[in-house]
Amino acid sequence: MRKPIMAGNWKMFKTPVETTAFFEKFLPLVAEAQHAEVAICAPFIDLPAAVAATQGSKVGIGGQNLHWAKDGAFTGEISGPMLRAIGCQYVIVGHSERRQFFGETDETVLKRTIAALDAGLTPIVCVGELLAERESGRTNDVLKTQFDGGIAGLTPEQFARIVIAYEPVWAIGTGKVATPEIAADAHRALRGYCEAHYGRDAAQAMRILYGGSVKPDNIKGLMAQPEIDGGLVGGASLEPNSFAGIVNF
Ligand code: PGA
Repeated sequence: MRKPIMAGNWKMFKTPVETTAFFEKFLPLVAEAQHAEVAICAPFIDLPAAVAATQGSKVGIGGQNLHWAKDGAFTGEISGPMLRAIGCQYVIVGHSERRQFFGETDETVLKRTIAALDAGLTPIVCVGELLAERESGRTNDVLKTQFDGGIAGLTPEQFARIVIAYEPVWAIGTGKVATPEIAADAHRALRGYCEAHYGRDAAQAMRILYGGSVKPDNIKGLMAQPEIDGGLVGGASLEPNSFAGIVNF
């Protein structure tokens, strides 16, 4: 059985003070949640406040990106060991906004994923197609290319420690959630690539999250699909009641 993960991606929202206020309201709302891992991936400057606020709770904290070097002359960057040192357990890698606006490629996704694993973090590796790619029938080709370039270079041991997030770019921040069937189809395709490369057991154990306009009122339908192992939630993770509604689907 794969344990679901509900992960919030705060993107570039909230200050440290707002972070503390969020967890004061949020933690009591999810105190009984045993069925899923719960994580918040916050902006770098909010991480100390988030880690402090969640001490002694089951909620894990993550970054939204990391550099692939341990340290060095990389102005403006943050490394895996730095995230780990501050108490992070997770890190998002290869989010479509990083691919779109910051030059992320499948090659750098693989480097960052390995760096995250080396630092003892759980990378949440994002893949997903653009609207034009879906409309031209190329969704599975795109996912396969992203898998081959960004994930398939991992050893079986490394692969066993990652989480994959399927995030169709046309569904992110648009309110246009993929139907559970569309999402499940993509998850099946991804699990197929996992199986072809790493074998059936490894593929069956892989948690594949869905992301893109997940809300409290659509999470149940998504989670009813056996292929969907949780959510990567942007906008709806910013407000305690809303994210708790998703965690407690
Ligand atoms: P959204 O973002 O839930 O606001 O669509 C999801 C994501 O980008 O991870």
